[in-house]
Amino acid sequence: MLILGLESSCDETAAAIVEDGRRVCSEVVASQIEVHARFGGVVPELASRAHVVNVVPVLRAALLEAELTLDDIDGVAVTQGPGLVGALLVAMQAGKAVAYARGLPLVGVHHLEGHMTAIFLEEEPPPFPHLALVVSGGHSSLIVAHDHGVFEEIGATRDDAAGEAFDKVAKLVGLGYPGGIAIQEAAEAGDPAGVALPRPMTGKQTGDDFSFSGLKTAVLNHVRKNGVPTGSALADLCASFQATVVEVLVRKTRKAVRRLQLEHVQVCGGVAANAALREELRRVGEEWDFSVFTPRIDRCTDNAAMIAAAGFHHLRRGERAGLDMNADSSLPLPGPRP
Ligand code: KG4
Ligand code: ZN
Repeated sequence: MLILGLESSCDETAAAIVEDGRRVCSEVVASQIEVHARFGGVVPELASRAHVVNVVPVLRAALLEAELTLDDIDGVAVTQGPGLVGALLVAMQAGKAVAYARGLPLVGVHHLEGHMTAIFLEEEPPPFPHLALVVSGGHSSLIVAHDHGVFEEIGATRDDAAGEAFDKVAKLVGLGYPGGIAIQEAAEAGDPAGVALPRPMTGKQTGDDFSFSGLKTAVLNHVRKNGVPTGSALADLCASFQATVVEVLVRKTRKAVRRLQLEHVQVCGGVAANAALREELRRVGEEWDFSVFTPRIDRCTDNAAMIAAAGFHHLRRGERAGLDMNADSSLPLPGPRP
């Protein structure tokens, strides 16, 4: 089954064609970094406009790269939510148009389900059940994946998402947008113990939830007191901030995986591209005897292959969306079926 996936929930316009939820025939991502860089973050209206410009060329490019035409496609999957509504609508309307014109089945995909399905495009995906640490610009969640499309969120951020914290700290120290990769690069030369920062939500009573806004404020206070750092002071601050986020994410994941007696963990979403997080999670997995699965770096951030792969599992179960489907910024994660 060849599924066309379309994604435009934030600042990437993406199209991909995936066979049977496993084999990527083509994937194209048009990034909007240049559009938003001078504003230091994503400007929703500009994102929507750039998606409008890019969506058809990206779709065409995906067909061209796969050497396929729309006649070959068996179904269409689009990101339904969560995300910026004006942005989501663009891929959704394009997907509806293709489905309607070609009489193809259509399905809407939860963005986090997409992220959790990126790992199934790897040669060795994790078995079910497993724990997913989903860390992106909009979310930091611990989710038990029981099966494709059967998820149970056990913890989430109470304020800022991990990626959001990376982006805000990067802006604060003048590293600009996108912040995650900029912090990672600046941290390379730094001392992770150089600046003492609080480890939020790691006490005994804090459950599986995260909180990153206090950490962001601690960095802000540090900058207010010492000025915007440069050189080795900047490297130390970035390394210390990154190490703190990684420590909190990994510690919480380890505790949850032990308590739930699970054996497999995957990390996904944009922050899963972070080298320090991938390395530390692998190290702790070896120490505590759980296996760790990480998607390809370029499939951690937003892409359409993950949406096509997730959509395949809904379509093969016979699920269909009507043309009245709409973008939904607070779409719930699909849970256990009745
Ligand atoms: O999944 P994603 O592309 O979009 C959302 O669904 O939000 O994630 C984007 C987030 C941004 O906050 C970005 O700073 C972060 O992922 N990110 C990283 C790295 N690469 C991207 N954070 C830390 N280290 C990275 N290497
Ligand atoms: Zn995402």
